[in-house]
Amino acid sequence: MCGIVGYIGKRPAFPILLSGLKRLEYRGYDSFGFFVLDKDKDFLLKKTGKISDFEKHLEDDFLNKVNGTIGLGHTRWATTGVVTEANTHPHFDCQKNIFLVHNGIIENYKELKEQLINEGHQFTSETDTEVLAHLIEKYFQGNLEEAVRQALKKVRGTYGIAVISKKDPQKIVAAKLGSPLILGINNDEFLVASDSSAIVSYTRQVINLDDNEIAVLSPNNFFILKEKPIEKIDWDAEEAQKQGFSHFMLKEIFEEPEAIEKSIVGRTVLEQGLAKLGGLEQVLEQLKKVEKIIIVGCGTASYAAKVGEYMLEEYAKLPAKTEIASEFRYKNSILDDKTAVLAISQSGETADTLEAVKEAKRKDCLTLGLVNTVGSSISRETDAGVYCRVGPEIAVASSKAFISQLSILVLITVGLGRQREMSLVVGKKILEELQKLPDLSKKIFSQADYIKELAGKYSQYRNFYFLGRKYNSSIASEGALKLKEIAWKIHAEGLPAGELKHGQIALTDKDFPTVVICPSDSVYDKMKNAIEEIKARQGKILAVATEGNEEIKNLVDDVIYIPKTLEMLTPILSVIPLHLFAAYLGLELGLDIDKPRNLAKSVTVE
Ligand code: AGP
Ligand code: GLU
Repeated sequence: MCGIVGYIGKRPAFPILLSGLKRLEYRGYDSFGFFVLDKDKDFLLKKTGKISDFEKHLEDDFLNKVNGTIGLGHTRWATTGVVTEANTHPHFDCQKNIFLVHNGIIENYKELKEQLINEGHQFTSETDTEVLAHLIEKYFQGNLEEAVRQALKKVRGTYGIAVISKKDPQKIVAAKLGSPLILGINNDEFLVASDSSAIVSYTRQVINLDDNEIAVLSPNNFFILKEKPIEKIDWDAEEAQKQGFSHFMLKEIFEEPEAIEKSIVGRTVLEQGLAKLGGLEQVLEQLKKVEKIIIVGCGTASYAAKVGEYMLEEYAKLPAKTEIASEFRYKNSILDDKTAVLAISQSGETADTLEAVKEAKRKDCLTLGLVNTVGSSISRETDAGVYCRVGPEIAVASSKAFISQLSILVLITVGLGRQREMSLVVGKKILEELQKLPDLSKKIFSQADYIKELAGKYSQYRNFYFLGRKYNSSIASEGALKLKEIAWKIHAEGLPAGELKHGQIALTDKDFPTVVICPSDSVYDKMKNAIEEIKARQGKILAVATEGNEEIKNLVDDVIYIPKTLEMLTPILSVIPLHLFAAYLGLELGLDIDKPRNLAKSVTVE
């Protein structure tokens, strides 16, 4: 959610912190701050709003005035306490000796705060975070890591923290529990950050800190209480740039054909109708014995899960069920060692999904991950898994990662299906058609200008239904969520089309349009029923239909065509126009489609 960057080395820290924080902006934030330690004059700055607005007013030589080589930067996504400068991080203790940035929530902060106030501590903010600064102050006896260790024993909740003390000045102490934190190792400088985007332009040598570990970084050395292997980041800084697009959101939608390609390349053995997923190889024998699969995820990832559920039941003949991760954790599902739990997450850091994985492990399930971010918490927590391999997704709303998740779910279906009853012919056919999708999906982008025009035409409406059936029922939910997220002045709801007549249609009239996903598949005729019902109530209809379907033009107001493919693969194509429609509508309404109001990219609180 929030971003943390820390730097210790020989260069002035401030420009490095600033550029690091800018790379973390996509995670969502409402205020930001810096602390730089300097021999002559420390620098503490806290601001609400956007970093870009602050930069606009920076004097040219401002950067040169902040000379210190040790510092912290933070973007805050408020959980406790409103958005004010006082609540912005870094937070400090009574003596202004300890400076600290934090991502997460300290759940028992009220008790701790009361106790610390009784002991004479004076607080300057409403945040949960500030208790950490005062707790560290309380235990500080000259050695910062020791004070941090003592303080963390007292807190409940989640944290990724980075701390500096003026009385133990040549170090940054970092620690985590439940929130991501990563160390960047360069020759004679070290960084700490909540995500590798902030570090990758300085070094690709990183260490993922584990829960309950404390790292101590000094100008020429670092140590962690446990020995850890150095890993390598698998993408470069170029991939995190807009590359000519006005917004990351658009860039990432236009990358969807490539995302399908990257997700499946080298992962099929066509002649044998097999999927080759290296990350699952070590659990192939266990997978044969699995009798049920539960797919967990949140938001967009849960809609991918739902499509996966349909694929697995129809083609792998494996009982499958989608569970919203935040519900799964508390619902006491009946699970055993014959159950596999597949967690889908772009970021790999979503707290609800991570907790669902931990719950599944407690119940002896085989846990699998379908994750984009390499080395993320979910990828490390699961027994085995598959990476999306689509590079960093920067826009807050997920697009290319969703397409990748769907593509890999096809591979997982073929993999599990061929272990069961799926014939060679069927396995081969699915894979052949899947391999055509990168090219077929490119064709949809030739309608981009037309979809933009449609977005203009429909921008006058404030409510939308999205309808689909079978494989496309959750694509309706995804289309609606995307519209709500990035064109947030509009309300939208996604429904399985059959549900319309069970109550929802009460709202349909000439001012309440419906987007209907109706490819020429086994449920097309049933979709026509829903279209008729809407038309009978003067509702406007925008349809996503299969190329060659001329009839549909007479039934609806506007049509976007997608190429023909297998029914189970249609979601991978039908969602593309919906992503474009949402993005263009958001732009039409003058909104920042990369950073929608109130949202954060990775939701690391439960
Ligand atoms: C997607 O556009 C949303 N911002 C959101 O629903 C997201 O998919 C969800 O929070 C899950 O994130 P994850 O894939 O990183 O776990
Ligand atoms: N809970 C802290 C706060 O509200 C940290 C929030 C964050 O992760 O940005 O200030």
